[in-house]
Amino acid sequence: MNMGRCKTWLLLLVGTVLLLPLTTCKKPNILLLIADDLGIGDIGCFGNTTLRTPNIDSIARDGALLSQHLSAASLCSPSRAALLTGRYPARSGMAPNTVIRVSLFNACPYGLPTSEITFAKLAKQAGYKTGLIGKWHQGWSRDSFNDFHHHPRNHGFDYFYGIPLTNLKDFGDDGDRVLFSFLSHALKRFITVVLVLGISTICLYRVGYIGIMPCSVIIFLLVLITGSVYLIMDNLKLLNSTIYRNFDLVEQPIDLETQMAKEVAEGQEFLQARRNDGEPFLLVMSWVHVHVFLAPAQKFLGKSKHGKYGDSVEEMDWAVGEMLNSLQQLGFADNTLVYFTSDHGGHLEERNVRGELEGGYNGIYKGGKGHGAVDGGIRVPTVIKWPGRIRAGSTSSEPTSQMDVLPTLANAMGVPVPSDRRIDGHDMLPLLTGQTSVSSHEFMFHYCGSDVHAVRYRPRGGSIVWKLTLKEPNYLPGRQVCEFVCNCAAAITIDPPHLYDMTSDPGEKQPMNATDHPQVYKKMIHALEEHVQNVKPVPNQYTFRNVMWRPWLQMCCNNNYPSCTCQDDKFNGKF
Ligand SMILES: *[C@@H]1O[C@H](CO)[C@@H](O)[C@H](O)[C@H]1NC(C)=O
Repeated sequence: MNMGRCKTWLLLLVGTVLLLPLTTCKKPNILLLIADDLGIGDIGCFGNTTLRTPNIDSIARDGALLSQHLSAASLCSPSRAALLTGRYPARSGMAPNTVIRVSLFNACPYGLPTSEITFAKLAKQAGYKTGLIGKWHQGWSRDSFNDFHHHPRNHGFDYFYGIPLTNLKDFGDDGDRVLFSFLSHALKRFITVVLVLGISTICLYRVGYIGIMPCSVIIFLLVLITGSVYLIMDNLKLLNSTIYRNFDLVEQPIDLETQMAKEVAEGQEFLQARRNDGEPFLLVMSWVHVHVFLAPAQKFLGKSKHGKYGDSVEEMDWAVGEMLNSLQQLGFADNTLVYFTSDHGGHLEERNVRGELEGGYNGIYKGGKGHGAVDGGIRVPTVIKWPGRIRAGSTSSEPTSQMDVLPTLANAMGVPVPSDRRIDGHDMLPLLTGQTSVSSHEFMFHYCGSDVHAVRYRPRGGSIVWKLTLKEPNYLPGRQVCEFVCNCAAAITIDPPHLYDMTSDPGEKQPMNATDHPQVYKKMIHALEEHVQNVKPVPNQYTFRNVMWRPWLQMCCNNNYPSCTCQDDKFNGKF
């Protein structure tokens, strides 16, 4: 090799080495923090003066507060599916109209179809290391108990630690059961059907229409079915209270009091590993807090002004602070986009065994978790920061959506959004960086299950945001709550629909007759028709068959039936 060539090579080499850190620096790290069942009225920077949330507030101070950020559903599984995919949950079959609209068992074949593209899959494409710590709630195995068909690892996450399902009040030790809360709904209907069938069978036998044999077989089957349903519903803790690390069942039942500390430790370990390997990362901290069963750690118990619920909110804020501190200590803070949100609004009907309220507070907004389209169920406390890109201390009151996360992250990571399917979210960066002042969402559709209950309209000019309400929850007389969760199928059709000016009446207190505003009304109905037409029918994940517990999909620690217990060696005695 001659000298000239050698020099060229040397220059190229030096140039590459010098430029390498610059190009890797450009890729921002991403930390998403998702609370469970947290209300918009629970957070300091959203106006709460009695709960202490300094760490969440600090994200708003260093970045932006989104005062009209909306989840795509008012219940966990559909809302989280939309957040992960940037699409209305109806497009992935995650939005049924039945009473059970979320995953209630680990051992069921439903879940987010693997044909969906999550932001984690996009992050993999962009060369990121990805991790999910905490709650998943998008399905688990499908055909056998260890095929892990719907596992986070099949949805773009390199690492998973946490709970396949969700926290449930049954996971506590005070004897409380979701079953009892549901009693007034599904179970009442079930018991009625069983009684009617039983009594008719006996009548038919008495009048001689059927013999003793068929009669006894039917009665036996009815008793068997009722008994099994009761047994299963009374054992949700045994069946569901599990923690996995990747594909290993490591803890059963969950020690809830140390859960938050364990999630933080796992998250920090993930960050430390990225410090060591230098890979850009996307980490989702999907807190199991502040869903019931509430079990704040000893350190937080009794410390807030709002019972165990308030203690749990403050503990979660502490955990957020721990993650922010780690970013700082590991030198990631200046190059990390941090987003904090809740999967939907606070649960207004949630009570413990003593009948005390244990759900969140949705501030001035009407309704809450499970209510469909009213803002209390879908307007979520959201703050976002990205040093150098999003101006510190800014606020955006434009309508934005959790479905915007996927396109926003795609832009930040420098990968295109999927082009083979409809993505309903829009990149929020132009709005957050001040390039534009009007939301890219001209229309938004608010679902209850698989039905659109309301349409939101942000005209391109002016500043008013309109909401057209076609259906309202079937509230208890004189109140704005249902018995436990509102049933989408029982919602009341409003004819003619109500129109709200959400800018001057965010609490949805002054309904206007939509027909009095024919131009706005016509535009919104037209947009709705267009939307409904472009949502292709897909298999519903929550069919009556799919929500039934499957014995062959059931997991059990060490196969040690029926006690199924184990402790995570990694944390033994640590917390
Ligand atoms: C703060 O949050 C708590 C807990 O949800 C709630 O009870 C309280 O009313 C809120 N306070 C204010 C001032 O918003």
